[in-house]
Amino acid sequence: MKTVGLVGWRGMVGSVLMQRMSEERDFDAIRPVFFSTSQHGSAAPSFGGQSGGTLQDAYDIDALKALDIIITCQGGDYTTEVYPKLRSAGWQGYWIDAASTLRMKDDAIIILDPVNHQVIREGLDRGIKTYVGGNCTVSLMLMSLGGLFAQDAVEWASVATYQAASGGGARHMRELLMQMGLLHNGVAEALQSPSSAILDIERKVTEMSRSGVLPTDNFGVPLAGSLIPWIDKQLENGQSREEWKGQAETNKILATRNIIPVDGLCVRVGALRCHSQAFTLKLKKDIPLADIEQMLAGHNDWVKVVPNDREVTMRELTPAAVTGTLATPVGRLRKLNMGPEYLSAFTVGDQLLWGAAEPLRRMLRLLVD
Ligand code: HSE
Repeated sequence: MKTVGLVGWRGMVGSVLMQRMSEERDFDAIRPVFFSTSQHGSAAPSFGGQSGGTLQDAYDIDALKALDIIITCQGGDYTTEVYPKLRSAGWQGYWIDAASTLRMKDDAIIILDPVNHQVIREGLDRGIKTYVGGNCTVSLMLMSLGGLFAQDAVEWASVATYQAASGGGARHMRELLMQMGLLHNGVAEALQSPSSAILDIERKVTEMSRSGVLPTDNFGVPLAGSLIPWIDKQLENGQSREEWKGQAETNKILATRNIIPVDGLCVRVGALRCHSQAFTLKLKKDIPLADIEQMLAGHNDWVKVVPNDREVTMRELTPAAVTGTLATPVGRLRKLNMGPEYLSAFTVGDQLLWGAAEPLRRMLRLLVD
């Protein structure tokens, strides 16, 4: 049985990972060792019925060196500090990481096994030891649209994202909810009275939003009742770093020989943990819509084609409907006015499941089963 070190299991992505590993009985297949960056020596948690022992020091290279596999959701700073030391110390184990730090390295593979199982298998055969979860929007796009990419049907993809607060982290989610609560409190009384003028209520909300009373330490500006058309750092070419990842990671995950252009605008909205994305896809040829739906639906066990029907779309293709599930639905499929090779699509997926935790635990299973 492989000894597996778990780092960053207490954070938001780590907690979702622990929950999924417990549900899938992954702990039965490993000998877990829990690490902490701040509380080593305290009692370790017990998941899946296994007693956890004592928390080990997540910076102790000798302790880490004793492991067969490490899974970390601790974040990029931890990876930057510990990974090079561990490899320089001669550690040959498997490193499975949720952070982006190592994603684009030549000796790392981005893991999304329903999409690139073959790439992962070939990596294992070549002796690759570093496996990194993809950016959430990229992973969720490929879970939903993988059927078209697998058939090499996509000439390019243009996307507008609607990304949830959870993508920023736990503190961002709290901040969004605080903002929502304060805005509501400010007009709660007026809302009770059906005769109050809605434009007076709106003016009060807008004034509050601009007055600086809302907490904005994490987002920088109010998100409740608004949106933020920028995610992550600014690059010199005018893209945000999140937008840059779209093409870079998609092509790395798929191991494409010719780069498929992927670009668009990434936008933060007031959803909690589901990222949605609106696509314009240029197909390599005119494919009948029914065939497209079949390609998409048959690609993996989690994608679901939602008929392009108002009522079903409103019921099934929203963050509210998808949050907390592994489903990665795609809908609003139709040919656009631009011509028969132009397809629209709308996808929704839980950013913490397929967008973060799920590919990690599935990589672990590939290594231990
Ligand atoms: N960078 C993403 C976001 C989440 O901010 O929504 C992590 O992949």
